[in-house]
Amino acid sequence: MVGLDTTTTVAPVLILLGPPGAGKGTQARMLQDRFGLVQLSTGDLLRAAVAAGTEAGKRAKAVMEAGELVSDDIVISILRDRLADPDCAKGVILDGFPRTTVQAKALDALLAASGQRVDAAISLDVDDAAMVARISGRYTCDGCGEGYHDTYKTPTTKDVCDTCQGTDFKRRADDNAETVAARLEAYHAQTSPLIAFYQTQGALARVNAMGAINDIASDLGAIVKKATA
Ligand code: AP5
Repeated sequence: MVGLDTTTTVAPVLILLGPPGAGKGTQARMLQDRFGLVQLSTGDLLRAAVAAGTEAGKRAKAVMEAGELVSDDIVISILRDRLADPDCAKGVILDGFPRTTVQAKALDALLAASGQRVDAAISLDVDDAAMVARISGRYTCDGCGEGYHDTYKTPTTKDVCDTCQGTDFKRRADDNAETVAARLEAYHAQTSPLIAFYQTQGALARVNAMGAINDIASDLGAIVKKATA
């Protein structure tokens, strides 16, 4: 982990960067519970739009199934709307956004309009080779969205969600080896340049995300504590 020099007097804005399977969603949920921030996952927002059959969802569906990035205009518009919701006033953890330089610049402009900025962009550093195993074993609770893994994170009681005691679970349509390869490619080509982007802003922190979930949460917690002090 490397430190960063940042202080904030307005609601914190944190970003988790990392390839598919890096643990962005897992860690964002833990940070949300610990720091009272709101997790904003553009993947979740897009899947909700697809399920609801909105115009944006119809345009995004095939792109997501192919493991490619949805167009900047759709994603920025969805995020802008969600950021305007009152609950986001307490601070947000962006999980899966921004993913392109266009999105990062749009976010800066949106935040600047309300006197805010990115307090910390945290890169979860992982080995690509391990990501296929993480993603192919992933499933989530259908009731509350809590994430699990066949091997690495199983519910305490078999087939019962630890968080809401639900018993229905689901797997994502894009969690297959072929699509994961395309998602990793998209990450390296279009998203990894954001590491340099936030380094230049002095907002970048890096965490080795190959360890145990709780150890990574502890490293992230230290960064978030400092960034939101
Ligand atoms: P999105 O939903 O954001 O998916 P992703 O980035 O591919 O990330 P994942 O959700 O697959 O992984 P994660 O890092 O959250 O890992 P998780 O914590 O679940 O995006 C889906 C699609 O939507 C994109 O492909 C694109 O089409 C579109 N999209 C979304 N945002 C967009 C944007 N901004 N612009 C354009 N298009 C966009 O962990 C994975 C598994 O590993 C879990 O089972 C977990 O239990 C386990 N695990 C987690 N940490 C560990 C650990 N340390 N050790 C062992 N296992 C672990």
